[in-house]
Amino acid sequence: MCGIVGYVGERSALDVVMGGLRRLEYRGYDSGGVALINDGKITSAKKAGKLVNLDKELQAHPLPLSHTGIGHTRWATHGAPNDRNAHPHLDADGRIAVVHNGIIENFAELRAKLEAAGHEMLSDTDTETVAHLLHDELLHTPDLSDAVRAVCLQLEGAFTLVIADANHPDVVVGARRNSPLVVGRGKGENFLGSDVSAFIDYTRDAIELGQDQVVTITPEDIVVTDFHGNQVETRDYHVDWDVSAAEKGGYDWFMLKEIAEQPQAVADTLLGRYSAEGSLQLDEMRLSDEELREVDKIIVIACGTAMYAGLVAKYAIEHWTRIPCEVELASEFRYRDPIIDRSTLVVAISQSGETMDTLMAVRYAREQHARVLSICNTNGSTIPRESDAVIYTHAGPEVAVASTKGFLSQIVACYLLGLYLAQVRGMKYGDEIARIMTQLEQLPEAIQRMLDEGEHVRELARELSASKSILFLGRHAGYPVALEGALKLKELAYIHAEGFAAGELKHGPIALIEDGLPVFVVVPPKGRDQLRDKVVSNIQEVRARGALTIVLAEDDDEEVAKYADRLIRLPKVPTLFQPLVATVPLQIFACEFAAELGHDVDQPRNLAKSVTVE
Ligand code: AGP
Repeated sequence: MCGIVGYVGERSALDVVMGGLRRLEYRGYDSGGVALINDGKITSAKKAGKLVNLDKELQAHPLPLSHTGIGHTRWATHGAPNDRNAHPHLDADGRIAVVHNGIIENFAELRAKLEAAGHEMLSDTDTETVAHLLHDELLHTPDLSDAVRAVCLQLEGAFTLVIADANHPDVVVGARRNSPLVVGRGKGENFLGSDVSAFIDYTRDAIELGQDQVVTITPEDIVVTDFHGNQVETRDYHVDWDVSAAEKGGYDWFMLKEIAEQPQAVADTLLGRYSAEGSLQLDEMRLSDEELREVDKIIVIACGTAMYAGLVAKYAIEHWTRIPCEVELASEFRYRDPIIDRSTLVVAISQSGETMDTLMAVRYAREQHARVLSICNTNGSTIPRESDAVIYTHAGPEVAVASTKGFLSQIVACYLLGLYLAQVRGMKYGDEIARIMTQLEQLPEAIQRMLDEGEHVRELARELSASKSILFLGRHAGYPVALEGALKLKELAYIHAEGFAAGELKHGPIALIEDGLPVFVVVPPKGRDQLRDKVVSNIQEVRARGALTIVLAEDDDEEVAKYADRLIRLPKVPTLFQPLVATVPLQIFACEFAAELGHDVDQPRNLAKSVTVE
């Protein structure tokens, strides 16, 4: 997720673009850059790191006054977060400047064709291919908007593109597919932005661009077409958010926004991982297939929610690869004298990539000659840099301390690793992998349904907000869901919340059950009858002792309904994937519960987003 701004009008384009980028910096802060049009040429500046670095660059090397410009704050997906990979990217003649948000799924193939035709790429990004494609298109399509439309038809994946062309000094063109772009309508000026916070200081009249649309803005005009040039009707709306709400996309909390972004985060993490030839490709995998075939044990190390993601993934990884997979708290791992060697694959899961407990465990594992693969959401952070290989999740920046989209995308990345291991070790045929990938690609829709049905969960949270203790039960892949649900609630609501393996109840925890005690229970899919029946028995056990049972169960599981004081319906998904839908109502519950108590949902007491101390 990156921040994008475009401007044409009478003001200083640099002032407008930089101001917009500062509003958008929460969307990405790996690098920043601007491109302006002056006297028939592009002038630009870009720097790795936060925008303050770009500010310093611009103070040291001022750009001439311009009234047309574009800008970008980057959240790196393809290519490390450095100056070279910072946007904007230019074509070889320095005439076209492009900024981009998203993932161009077929960029490797496009890049290969461009390089074969003599184009020299200066960066590792997928974005740069667009600048070179536009260069070639403009050789025979003089109109910039036509050229942008022709190039968009060649791209696959998710993209928001904003383009400036030195030969069209008072025009900026934008295009979008599966990634947001809004238009700000001014008087004698017009704006483009990733969201309205980019231009809310200048206008509150906006147009949401639709799927597969191209917008051309000049100081006086806004024209929107589809990718084939057919003009389309637009819907203007007035933004009544304040700036802070705009940065949260209109949500009260970043956490709510990030919960809502989960379908896209899962879809983006899956994007570009499965080739047309029917094989998995993890482009950041720097361990050879031979090395992966030598792996005889996997140890997942992580903390908190990331560790629970590993616990969920363990079931799939062992089922698909038959490699023993242990999941350990990073803070415990290196003190127990673990049995690891060259054949051990240590998988470090970390959203921030800076958690010191996990980093120290990675360093220990490497000292013991284990191979280390990290699953991380922050490109270029310390843990991936110190790993042998990395699979980046593409969830975009996660601002709220309580991890949500990070969790779901970590699970999906672990599934990709398990499938990749199964593929290189011959445990799964291509058609089996294709079937599983198809099931995974259907999950965003199932997750979206849980979001759409969230209101009754919020009502439940308000109803139970006086509770001082809440338990969570689950079995198999539902057990880590119970742990995660409890962690969300305790870190946000500051009450006693505890997750248990449902089978453990009778070994002690059932003593906690008392009249009216809320107990969430995640019921396995009906396809797992024996497992499911045991959980239904557990529900009866706690209910018989007075618990208020809040049951999460599949749509068509009618039998369990009679034991549920409150029922949260789940879409039917394969057992191994149920955590991705069952977790969502627990996130919503914890968020609403904390808000009802008047807590700061995004910044819970005593906690930090990244724990960089041991
Ligand atoms: C999750 O809601 C917490 N914020 C915390 O448990 C977090 O998951 C843990 O600190 C690990 O962080 P990381 O993924 O950045 O390594």
